[in-house]
Amino acid sequence: MILYFTGTGNAKYIAEKIANVTGDETKNIVAYTRDNEKFLQGDGERLILVSPVYYWGIPESVKGFLKTLKTAGRYFAIVLECGGSTGNAQGVCERYVRPDAVFGVVAVDNFCPMFKIESAEETEKRLDALDEKIAVIADKIRNEEKGDFNAAKGSFYKLNTALLYPIYEKFGGRKTKFSASDDCVNCGLCESICPVSAIKIENGKPVWTKEKCDMCLGCLSRCPKNAISIKKSLKNGRYVNPRVKF
Ligand SMILES: Cc1cc2nc3c(=O)[nH]c(=O)nc-3n(C[C@H](O)[C@H](O)[C@H](O)COP(=O)(O)O)c2cc1C
Ligand code: SF4
Ligand code: SF4
Repeated sequence: MILYFTGTGNAKYIAEKIANVTGDETKNIVAYTRDNEKFLQGDGERLILVSPVYYWGIPESVKGFLKTLKTAGRYFAIVLECGGSTGNAQGVCERYVRPDAVFGVVAVDNFCPMFKIESAEETEKRLDALDEKIAVIADKIRNEEKGDFNAAKGSFYKLNTALLYPIYEKFGGRKTKFSASDDCVNCGLCESICPVSAIKIENGKPVWTKEKCDMCLGCLSRCPKNAISIKKSLKNGRYVNPRVKF
């Protein structure tokens, strides 16, 4: 089984690429973290978790999942995928679980609140480069190789995580940051994809109902009308993995 958490598609893309090589089934982790399905790992089953890196740590939903995970399988690997470097996201995971292998890979940065989203051409180049790295990772997973294969930690990775991740843990995405413009056509997508059910459509428009969310940027990035924004995101554009079918 390959589980993934995603806001803008990169983790799903990576999970599916790995599955093409290993033959494992893929599944969005929200089935367990949001939709109350019970996670049962078959005896001797291989488990792979693909997670984006947030604030040099991991999304709150992934953390919640790891806190309750009892690995009963023969092999458990975590693939951390990021925009630039993973920091010590691995160390955050290892507070809760002992994976047999950890991989780190640079995908495409989706963090439009802070960075300009790259052009379609640049994105395609990055995804081509990512494909090569995933092929190596998938091979190691198929052979169930054990160890720390994360070469994307970056400099001062422990310090970066120690400084930045607690801010995310405390504040996450604050509801007051998001707003929807009159371009909203009440399609309901943002409400249905939010991994923490933080959005409700009221009077034909999304309302952010929780003080804190996972900040996956799925609502903002995947809205078909680009109606959702937060501070600064308007000028930076939006990213959705162009090769993924949701
Ligand atoms: C809230 C948030 C925080 C992020 N923090 C980091 C970070 O600390 N380091 C990094 O390299 N990328 C960071 N990113 C970029 C994502 O890890 C990266 O774009 C990833 O591929 C997104 O995966 P997804 O498309 O599956 O959602 C962040 C993205 C978000 C939304
Ligand atoms: S996804 Fe966009 S268009 Fe659809 S309901 Fe949400 S804000 Fe409106
Ligand atoms: S409100 Fe938007 S950014 Fe926050 S978790 Fe939900 S979909 Fe992601």
